[in-house]
Amino acid sequence: MKILVTGGSGFIGSNFIRYWMKKYSGDKIINLDALTYAGNLENLKEVENNPNYKFIKGDICDIKLVNDLVKGVDLIVHFAAESHVDRSIADSEDFIKTNIEGTRVLLDAAKNNGGIRFHHISTDEVFGSLGLADPAFNEKTPYDPRSPYSASKAAADHLVRAYFHTHKLPITISNCSNNYGPYQFLEKLIPLFITNLIEGKKVPVYGDGKNIRDWIFVDDHNAGVDAIIQKGTIGETYCLGGGNELTNIEITKKIIELMGASEEVIEYVKDRKGHDLRYAMDYSKIKNELGWKPKINFNEGLAKTVDWYKNNSDWWQKIKSGEYKKYYEKQYE
Ligand code: NAD
Ligand code: TYD
Repeated sequence: MKILVTGGSGFIGSNFIRYWMKKYSGDKIINLDALTYAGNLENLKEVENNPNYKFIKGDICDIKLVNDLVKGVDLIVHFAAESHVDRSIADSEDFIKTNIEGTRVLLDAAKNNGGIRFHHISTDEVFGSLGLADPAFNEKTPYDPRSPYSASKAAADHLVRAYFHTHKLPITISNCSNNYGPYQFLEKLIPLFITNLIEGKKVPVYGDGKNIRDWIFVDDHNAGVDAIIQKGTIGETYCLGGGNELTNIEITKKIIELMGASEEVIEYVKDRKGHDLRYAMDYSKIKNELGWKPKINFNEGLAKTVDWYKNNSDWWQKIKSGEYKKYYEKQYE
């Protein structure tokens, strides 16, 4: 199989490519990534010389490039996105361009080149915010996005489904909860807090720290995507979650304990605007239909992640210093 992966140099996409190349070593992968601030070629150093792997630096909004690249491709797995809520609050322009227009360009290329199988990676955030007593989101939950990030992802999901209904494009969608694990960019809660503690800095908890997220280890997410690609029903959406609902302060305390720090490092800071209270996913559809469930226990996954950041300070220090960009500038600029 020849696969076009978009956004493969980011956190989840790079873990996906590593996962896929190990499991399906005969498949060919083209990674199309614009190398925005979140894209890092060092994430995929271990596969860059594999003859079945090819990196293309480019924008998913580039119609000509995308149309050239999809020729002969059997499957598109679409991870590329602007992914950080706080950035979308500061400025939503790139979110609209990449997450909506970029998805449209890919869908048209898939449609115009024989109807290529298309798997779209989305988020639980499209469903809005839960109250503490509400049941978890599932595939039937109405969309109610509340940040520019989640609104742009929701628009993309609607477009993907529209291309299925209108053009019979063979699509599937996965909406997943908060991921964590190796190679996550430092702006997100878990890697930011781990690396701050390694550097002896404080950890900024937004508001009262009582917001709840449902955390899933990145390999569990990618195993779910694999199950959908192999066995999912065309046109369907699948909700993926970790079954680990935790408040931000609970996670913060777990990280502090694993790092042997004191709770004095906690600094309560101004809350995020429009901060969603709670996300939780009911993953019974994919469990019952495709036999997938998350396997990695949160405490083990978090300990593994802490160890990874401790053992890979070279990777994240280059991000903090901005040096990671020099690595690809030499090769691709
Ligand atoms: P990320 O920000 O780490 O990586 C995004 C990648 O997309 C980067 O490599 C970036 O360079 C690339 N990219 C951005 N704009 C591009 C463009 N115009 N053209 C080509 N490449 C471009 O994000 P992530 O956390 O790995 O998320 C990947 C996908 O998973 C996103 O679609 C996101 O919405 C979704 N998702 C993320 C989470 C999470 O917890 N991180 C949870 C559920 C779903
Ligand atoms: P984040 O990792 O940005 O993911 P998302 O907003 O997509 O869920 O944030 C996870 C939670 O942690 C969210 O409730 C916001 C909170 N948070 C903090 O309290 N402090 C921080 O510095 C960051 C980045 C996030």
